[in-house]
Amino acid sequence: MRTQVAIIGAGPAGLMLSHLLYLQGIESVVLERRSRDAICATIRAGVLEQGTVDLMSDAGLGDRMRREGFRHEGTVLRVGGVDRRIDFVELTGGRAVMVYAQHEVIKDLVDARLATGGDLRFEVADVTLHDLASSRPAVRYRSCGAHSGTDSRSGSGGSSSDSRSGNGDHGSERQTVQADFIVGCDGSHGVSRAAIAPQALQTFEHRYPYGWLGMLCKAPPSSSELIYALGDDGFALVSTRSLQVQRMYLQCDPRDQPEDWSDDRIWSTLRARLATRDGWQPNEGAIFEKTVVGMRSSVTEPMRHGRLFLAGDAAHVVPPTGAKGLNLAMSDVRLLSRALGRFYRQHREDLLDAYSATALGRVWRAQRFSWWMTSLLHRAPGADAFERKLQDAELDYLTRSRAASTALAENYVGLPAGPLW
Ligand code: FAD
Ligand code: DHB
Repeated sequence: MRTQVAIIGAGPAGLMLSHLLYLQGIESVVLERRSRDAICATIRAGVLEQGTVDLMSDAGLGDRMRREGFRHEGTVLRVGGVDRRIDFVELTGGRAVMVYAQHEVIKDLVDARLATGGDLRFEVADVTLHDLASSRPAVRYRSCGAHSGTDSRSGSGGSSSDSRSGNGDHGSERQTVQADFIVGCDGSHGVSRAAIAPQALQTFEHRYPYGWLGMLCKAPPSSSELIYALGDDGFALVSTRSLQVQRMYLQCDPRDQPEDWSDDRIWSTLRARLATRDGWQPNEGAIFEKTVVGMRSSVTEPMRHGRLFLAGDAAHVVPPTGAKGLNLAMSDVRLLSRALGRFYRQHREDLLDAYSATALGRVWRAQRFSWWMTSLLHRAPGADAFERKLQDAELDYLTRSRAASTALAENYVGLPAGPLW
């Protein structure tokens, strides 16, 4: 079959791109390795920048987010048991963040694509990319699951060639989707980036000696705002998901397994790292999910090879401390959908040609911020007393200086994005 844009991966980047293209009358097919249930159940990010919140609203996806998400107008830095609040709204002229889980964003996007006849193909296997240097690139794959149907607002070129269109199972035959463009939104372990010859790419990478143990527990929020805490032996973060569920993270060894962390060990570590001079305690409850994530920074340049574009984690990964990963994925596809819109409406390739450099500017600003926030708020194994004193001095300056607090606030809520259309 033919489509205009073949998208690999139904994460936030792939689904949002498909939706933004649909709003411009551009047809796409989304190929996803996992099932619909699996993508809607994966627990990951929680903080949406102001620009992501605005994008969700402008794209007609904001109703549930506004009803069920929590707008946070500031955050608390807790160092040495003392709280200092960073007031986002005051320091940025009214900008804030929304705590709304990534899997809820995914559900909203899947529902919106299916309600508008979007072509989402789940449980595909063996995805391969072909003819990237030509104007007729193709994606081949094997289908193990169902697909949702074809886009009802398709633009040009929707004829089916080697496979049937419409609802239903594709069996396990190899399918081909020919497209004008392919967009790799398949995350950090996907196949898109790997389809580009290594000599055509440059990758910049940094590994951190920290991991995060993330957990969900059944307890009401301990705080109305996120608490980023640095205790003597490391970092802890108090976040939330709902009035009944809390999300918390703590610094651990990146080689740790979730089983290394009993519930008692988690709570005693959190209590110690979050202790204040006036006896604050987190609300505790049954822990029902535990994961360990390692931390790295990585950027692949350029984010384009012929007719293949990379977006989101497929092109770059940040450590989670600054809450930037999902937001960067969204800002990439915002740029790309505008560039593709201009290509189809005005036959102009200028924005497509500028995509990689424009996106990378923002990516590197977010990398710098995420690296800085990670280094500031974690205890580096083997750090000497001098380095700890410097870390204390930087945290002290950050909370005393309006200029330094403003720099944190404006990066955290997200630097302004360009026009959507
Ligand atoms: P992904 O979400 O990884 O989606 C890629 C999709 O492609 C997946 O569904 C995958 O199954 C599919 N895929 C992969 N390979 C193939 C293939 N070969 N064929 C077909 N499909 C394929 N970011 C924030 O902004 N704020 C936060 O608060 C935040 N907190 C985080 C906390 C944790 C613990 C973690 C782990 C991450 C956090 N992030 C956060 C990062 C954020 O989750 C990611 O940056 C985001 O998911 C990237 O979206 P994406 O669409 O680019 O990629
Ligand atoms: C969450 C994740 C982050 O990486 C962060 O910096 C803040 C909150 C969360 O999952 O709620």
